[in-house]
Formats: sequence, structure tokens, C-alpha cells
Amino acid sequence: MHNGFIQLYFPDADAIRAELSEGLLAQHAHTSPKYLYDALGSTLFEAICKLPEYYPTRTEAAIFDNCLSDIARSIGRGSTLIDLGAGNCDKAARLFSALQPVEYVPVDISVDFLRDAVTTLRQRYPHIKMTGIGMDFSLSLDLPQAVRKEKRLFFYPGSSIGNFNPDEAATFLARIREACRSDGGLLIGVDLVKDMATLDAAYDDALGVTSAFNLNLLLHLNTLLGADFDPRDWRHRAFFNQHESRIEMHLEACRDVEVRWPEGRRRFNEGERIHTECSYKYTADNFLRLLERAGFGTTRTWTDERGWFLVCHARAV
Ligand code: AVI
Repeated sequence: MHNGFIQLYFPDADAIRAELSEGLLAQHAHTSPKYLYDALGSTLFEAICKLPEYYPTRTEAAIFDNCLSDIARSIGRGSTLIDLGAGNCDKAARLFSALQPVEYVPVDISVDFLRDAVTTLRQRYPHIKMTGIGMDFSLSLDLPQAVRKEKRLFFYPGSSIGNFNPDEAATFLARIREACRSDGGLLIGVDLVKDMATLDAAYDDALGVTSAFNLNLLLHLNTLLGADFDPRDWRHRAFFNQHESRIEMHLEACRDVEVRWPEGRRRFNEGERIHTECSYKYTADNFLRLLERAGFGTTRTWTDERGWFLVCHARAV
């Protein structure tokens, strides 16, 4: 069985510094949510997924558990399973016995973490060809020649699509559509609009884990940019913006602070914020329209009894 690992992502430190500097100096300071995930940030995110308030992970898992045979029937056997943002590959591995993929292609920007995960997984599933790919799939979905073109099933769980704004999400979904032939498709998890108290609590939990996840961004910025953020000068703010149908995460200055880094400096007045993440919440209808706009054809959906989360299988035609 041929197995491999292909590394297409090599971080460009200068480009990262330029992007971060520009965001911090903008009138409304902002950073991309991808910078929340250094090693500690990824560990804190794993802890978030176990919190009582953070319902998306366990609600999605329950839909997959309850509906797996129906989902597998919709998809059919023998796909090329392309796992976008695979991380530890756990979510996809839980589908293997029902889907019987011919090839598994986990893709992630965290190259070393993915390489280790694939090495372990190969020992458990020696009959499935596995090609790990270290790449930034938010920029390009140009997959190497080694990846089988037949029956490509892109897997994008966890409602990560919500961290793009709707226009970016449409562009990203259209790129997935282009990367599969007419026999391919997409299996995606999407968080749905629900009451505000539930949404607010999911992003501002009682133990303060999401607060630590957000504040840890400042430590990551200190590393990437050589900045002198002191997390004690900042507090976590997260709330549902009903008008935009999104959770917004911000870091808010608790007092007047000046932050310096080699290429710049900025004074933040007390109460001023850095916008660190958006997490869009869709209605089922709005999301299906987005899939249609991206060029997908027939779609089947599954949800939980509260209608909090949606799993969709969208066919390329
Ligand atoms: C990864 N992503 C789908 C999470 C979300 O819910 O938007 C990230 C997260 N941010 C705060 N809590 C979880």
C-alpha cells in the first residue's frame, strides 16, 4: 500500500508579520482567527469542545452517530475522503467503517501534528491508502497529482465554515466544487441560529476556557511579531451579533495601554477592542442557498432533535 506525506505549506514569517501588523494598525484592530491556534491554543480549543456550554462538537457527533448508516447510503462506498482541517483525524476515522473509503487524504496547516496523527492512524487502518498533506487549504485547493480524482468526498466538519464570512464561505465552497468531478461531493457540518443565551454561553463559558483561548492569542502575537502584549491588560468579550448572525470574539483593553513591536506601536484606549474571530450561524435554508450558489446540486441534510446543528451531504451535480 502506497502511503505518503506531502508538505506544501512553509510559513513565511515576513508575510505573517506584515499581515498582523496591518491588522493591528487598522482603525478597527483585527487579527485572523487562524492565529488562535498555536500549540496552547489548539489544546485550549480541545478543552472548549468538552465544555458543557459548547454544544456544537457533541451535537454534531450525535448526528453522525444516529444517522451514520443513512449518511453512508447517501455517499456510497469507495470514496476518496479528503479531510479539510483534519487535526488528529479522529472525526474522519469514526466514519471509516461505514464509508469504506479507498483513500484517505487528511489536510492541515499544522504539519507536524498531522504527520504524527497519520502515522498512528496508518497502523490502525493499513488497508486504506493515506496521503497526508500539509497545506493552507483556505488559500488553495490545488491537490497534488498523487490524490485520486475519482469520487472525491470533501469532509469539513465542526462548523469551521462559520469562521469565514458568507462571501468568503461561498468562494471557498465553490473552490471545493471545482476540486471534485461530477461523481464527488461535500460532507459538511454547520452550526445553526438558536436562542441568544445558548449562543452567548457557548462562547463565554463559566470556567473561562474560551477567555483563555482568546487571550492566548496575545502570547502568540508576542512570539510571531515580537510584541509586548500583557494578557492582564485585556479581557475576553464574546456575544451574538443578531444583525450579522454571528458570534463575535474580541479582546478589550481593561485600561489605556501602549503595545510595541519592531515594525510598529499602537495605543489602545480603555474599552478599545481587537476583533479576533467571527463565527457565523446559519439557518438551514440560508446554508442550502450558499451551497447552491457554490454550484452544488442535490443536498441531503440531517439534524438533531433541537435543530441546533446541520450535517449536509451536497453532491457535485
Ligand atoms: C473552530 N470553530 C468552528 C470554533 C467556532 O465555534 O467558531 C472556534 C471557537 N471559537 C471560540 N470557541 C470555539
